Amino acid sequence: MDKYKVTHRLLRQSIKSLVNRQLTSNNPIYRFISALPLGNGGRNPQLYRSFGSLATKVERNPSFSSLNSDDLSYFKGVLGEKNVVQDEDRLETANIDWMHKYKGFSKLLLLPRNTEEVSKILEYCNSRRLAVVPQGGNTGLVGGSVPVFDEVIINVGSMNKIIAFDKVSGILVCEAGCILENLISYLDNQGFVMPLDLGAKGSCQIGGNVSTNAGGLRFVRYGSLHGNVLGLEAVLANGDVLDMLGTLRKDNTGYDLKHLFIGSEGSLGIVTKVSILTPPKLSSVNIAFLACEDYLSCQKLLSEAKRKLGEILSAFEFLDSHAMDLVLNHLEGVRNPLSSAVHNFYLLIETTGSDESYDKEKLEAFLLHSMESGLISDGVLAQDINQASSFWRIREGVPEALMRAGPVYKYDLSLPVEKMYSLVEEMRARLGQSANVVGYGHLGDGNLHLNVSAPRYDDTILAQIEPYVYEWTSKHRGSISAEHGLGLMKANEIFYSKSHGTVQLMASIKKLLDPNGILNPYKVLPSLPPLLQLSSWTLFLTVDILIIACG
Ligand code: FAD
Ligand code: MLT
Ligand code: ZN
Repeated sequence: MDKYKVTHRLLRQSIKSLVNRQLTSNNPIYRFISALPLGNGGRNPQLYRSFGSLATKVERNPSFSSLNSDDLSYFKGVLGEKNVVQDEDRLETANIDWMHKYKGFSKLLLLPRNTEEVSKILEYCNSRRLAVVPQGGNTGLVGGSVPVFDEVIINVGSMNKIIAFDKVSGILVCEAGCILENLISYLDNQGFVMPLDLGAKGSCQIGGNVSTNAGGLRFVRYGSLHGNVLGLEAVLANGDVLDMLGTLRKDNTGYDLKHLFIGSEGSLGIVTKVSILTPPKLSSVNIAFLACEDYLSCQKLLSEAKRKLGEILSAFEFLDSHAMDLVLNHLEGVRNPLSSAVHNFYLLIETTGSDESYDKEKLEAFLLHSMESGLISDGVLAQDINQASSFWRIREGVPEALMRAGPVYKYDLSLPVEKMYSLVEEMRARLGQSANVVGYGHLGDGNLHLNVSAPRYDDTILAQIEPYVYEWTSKHRGSISAEHGLGLMKANEIFYSKSHGTVQLMASIKKLLDPNGILNPYKVLPSLPPLLQLSSWTLFLTVDILIIACG
């Protein structure tokens, strides 16, 4: 699928919807564009708001240079031959994202070994106007980690050392290329836990996690990386190294700039080191796998769990029967731990505490009460670590099962819990037999993963989903990206969740830190100028004519 190519048909649709809808100043896209200085060839800014999310065309920024042999010699001089990768197979992997949905055409992958090397190569790229894309484990789900055109890929995977760990405070300082799973194992041996865990832990890097502000499976207990990351080191586009690698829990000396880099998806700098607060490992972990027959019961169970399990609750995840079917049909060795009866919803509840008998008693009492009151129709408590892992495999395996099932349209939404599943049902009704609509996610955090699994990537299906999903989310005051980021996929949709003033300020910060725009271009922020160019005068004339014709 080439999502960012505009077909004539979709363009016609956009024009039609432009004419049908009133141009109101309440529309966020309109508000942003109307605030732009009128330098766009004198075109009426009101016309631009119609393209919505369907017509996301990206054009290569002509101010960027192309690689030449002098550039390669420079990089080889700094990094050594073997860290300047031109091998086609390795580039092929680095050019394609995890979903095989976004593909770039980079001819170069650079593997710096320390901050100084990152600094030198960025300084050089900036002076040469060579665009770059920072890449970690390349497990991102929004097309943010791969080039769009010929950007140079920079991967700090060789920077994977643990620098320090303080057993008293639980503060870990490490390089950004550390694989999350390695950090989890390291901490486990030290008697601590990583406050972040997610299905891609075997490949994703902590630098990528911080840059996406990844949420994951234990967010309900440990909260956001904005809270757990105590400091970081980042290299700016011009090669300047910003040392913000503090290890203090409290530090109110002015603006806390590290937060700019947490979740900025490689658009403001390359994260090279991180310090992170890790909680001690507690001895008693219990996991229950439960079934509910309706979504209201899932909601009620969540409220009950927060009240009754409060301090020991460490995960509250859900998947619907469509997600369960996918896992059972596409992943080897996975079986439903509950009776063969089909249930509509499945929940995974984990508790983590320090008193085995007290915690178990508490969880069992909660489950018994929920069973008696009819909130859960079936359930099982893991008896050992193998059973616990098999429960987690079901939930963590959903993205992989979806991938195996074929093309998938992914949406990662924050919504009020009580509204969340109505969107899944509405989408099912909208799409009918043409696709399988699947709902799962981090219920405890109000984070829905709405996935549409389709036989092929198809503009007709996409037009049924977007902008409907974004409009619905915006109407219910949700966020169009709960945890995956905006990447390329949603850069132009930012207005559904952010006001035009906020986006303007973001753009100013980007301009200040990366004046040439070399860092991860076309991602995160809307690429309005190319978007505006997409249509040429023909489109504007057509729209003008239609508007005039329709009065
Ligand atoms: P990449 O995918 O390589 O990059 C992601 C973004 O970060 C890109 O914009 C890239 O440019 C930037 N970046 C990477 N490294 C750096 C760096 N050192 N400095 C600056 N920018 C950088 N996400 C969640 O939030 N919660 C989940 O539960 C979750 N589960 C997942 C399960 C599966 C099976 C998969 C495939 C993905 C999942 N994800 C989840 C999405 C993804 O794993 C996370 O976004 C992860 O944090 C990305 O890390 P990465 O190292 O792979 O980064
Ligand atoms: C998850 O929670 O499983 C991840 O965020 C990946 C996904 O959304 O598919
Ligand atoms: Zn998730």
